[in-house]
Amino acid sequence: MTQQQKWDPQRYARNAGFVATLGMPVVELLAPQPGERILDLGCGDGVLTQKLAEMGCDVVGVDASADQIEAARERDLDAHVVDCHNLEFDKEFDAVFSNAALHWMKRPAEVIAGVRRALKPQGRFVGEFGGAGNIHQVQVALSAALTRREIDMETLWPWYFPTPEEYQAELQAAGFGVQSIELIPRPTPLPGALTDWLETFAESFLPPIPTEEHANFFQEIQDAAQASLCDEQGQWTVDYVRLRFAAIQESA
Ligand code: BEZ
Repeated sequence: MTQQQKWDPQRYARNAGFVATLGMPVVELLAPQPGERILDLGCGDGVLTQKLAEMGCDVVGVDASADQIEAARERDLDAHVVDCHNLEFDKEFDAVFSNAALHWMKRPAEVIAGVRRALKPQGRFVGEFGGAGNIHQVQVALSAALTRREIDMETLWPWYFPTPEEYQAELQAAGFGVQSIELIPRPTPLPGALTDWLETFAESFLPPIPTEEHANFFQEIQDAAQASLCDEQGQWTVDYVRLRFAAIQESA
């Protein structure tokens, strides 16, 4: 059982503001039309949800984090705390959109079944998230730091990074026709150090480690990843790989 990642909207905006900015290509793939009713799955603090609303869409945002939903509501969005493995919407959306969230949902069949129920017939499911090979160099450094402490990474691993073939099979099994699906390497410069990124996103690995050792643990990972992820000017760039897809709900 993995520990729930906690989301602090201020820390997220400081260390991960790039997530929404770099999400615009998937908004373009969605091609939202004014008046369309759209579900933003894993909307976080609602930056992209707000973009969809500004494009004239009738948008609902859902996210498992109450803190992030509070931040989304402060943007005046229709946003709700929901476990995206248990969506209860019924044929009400023209499209379901998701950016940088599906890799946090480890039971894809349950998520996709809920998305299918939420869509009107022929509705679109368009998204982008971490795919196979995502953050590989971070994983190598993390694995070494955990192994040194005799901690099993597998049981704490909070992410789902499928290949296009695996995710396409999940979509098709649920009655989606897949229009496009591709892996896109997207090395992503960070606004700060890798330790800031780890503090924002890697809490799931902390429970077996004494609190007073947390800072050392993240520093050790950063030191191990320095050669592969940091340039001579001190700019950190994480080896993100996106899985971007567009699918259509085909069966009634
Ligand atoms: C991602 O967007 O790929 C990602 C973000 C945080 C942790 C792991 C992956």
